[in-house]
Amino acid sequence: MRIGILTGGGDCPGLNAAIRAIVRRAVVRGDQTIGFANGWAGMLEDQARPLSIESTAGILARGGTILGTSRTNPFAQEVEDGLGRIRATFAAHALDGLIAIGGEDTLGVALKLAEAELPVVGIPKTIDNDISETDYTIGFQTAVAIVAEAIDRLHSTAESHHRVMVVEVMGRHAGWIATHAGIAGGADAILIPEQPFDIESVCRHLRTRRERGRSFSIVVAAEGAIPRAGNLQVRSGGGRDSFGHVRLGGIGITLEEAIEQRTGFETRATILGHVQRGGTPSAFDRVLATRLGVAAVDAIAAGESGVMVALQGTAIRTVSLQRALSAPKLVDPDLYATAEVFFG
Ligand code: F6P
Repeated sequence: MRIGILTGGGDCPGLNAAIRAIVRRAVVRGDQTIGFANGWAGMLEDQARPLSIESTAGILARGGTILGTSRTNPFAQEVEDGLGRIRATFAAHALDGLIAIGGEDTLGVALKLAEAELPVVGIPKTIDNDISETDYTIGFQTAVAIVAEAIDRLHSTAESHHRVMVVEVMGRHAGWIATHAGIAGGADAILIPEQPFDIESVCRHLRTRRERGRSFSIVVAAEGAIPRAGNLQVRSGGGRDSFGHVRLGGIGITLEEAIEQRTGFETRATILGHVQRGGTPSAFDRVLATRLGVAAVDAIAAGESGVMVALQGTAIRTVSLQRALSAPKLVDPDLYATAEVFFG
């Protein structure tokens, strides 16, 4: 068999571990692997190179993706005959299957291709962890560890200066990073897109804490956190990508001003940004990526298409891409309720 591989959308730690696993599994089976550069752009423009055990040696622990990535959408209006060009690339390389490693956008394209009878299997990756049908996506656990460490560090400086520290983390539609890292870091308030927040009640938590004799606080906010209508205006970072997503960024600064103004407590915002997506993957992500990579090759070999390999409990399973993408996986209200026990 000849198997294509691409990584699309935002990068994350663990992509290289998945690429390495796909190549190793394929070679062991006697198959060939071809890497496409920069996500769907590489399929549109036929930018391909053969991958081997040698060319993927030493990448298990390396962040980013050796294939490069992009947010190119082959079905965007400005792209001429995206489907036809991808079909031509499949034919030019005599591909028996393509493994697309990505989040909702990349996997959404994979689903459309599968519906057009091209054999595609997806691997879920995104630090946001917002893909349904899988317990975790590649990159999430590493991002949580990075944010938890940052919160630990912010604690000591917050305490010295008697400040409120606002930590803005990634998470457009889902507050998984904020919730997990906030619990791990002992946050005094966690703001996520799923639970529109009231700035007055956030400030109440901070005042209560001062009254209890704690002179500093940590507020963790997902970039997509939404204030309840009416009492706070959040600015957007501006611009949209080719999948139509608005560039976020700004809630941290908005909160810094709003909290200081309402409480009189000195407040500082830290926007962790792409630090959360960089560097070496955690051991968990290396294992997850390895298992998903091996399973994706096996799914192609079994003739499957329009599916995603997923972690469910402790098992790796093959699930329908359509189901996985039917709705984003949002933070479980029970988990958030556990985090709330520690607010204020
Ligand atoms: O890949 C998901 C994500 O990390 C989001 O959490 C974030 O909003 C977005 O990517 C940032 O995208 P970019 O790297 O294009 O600025």
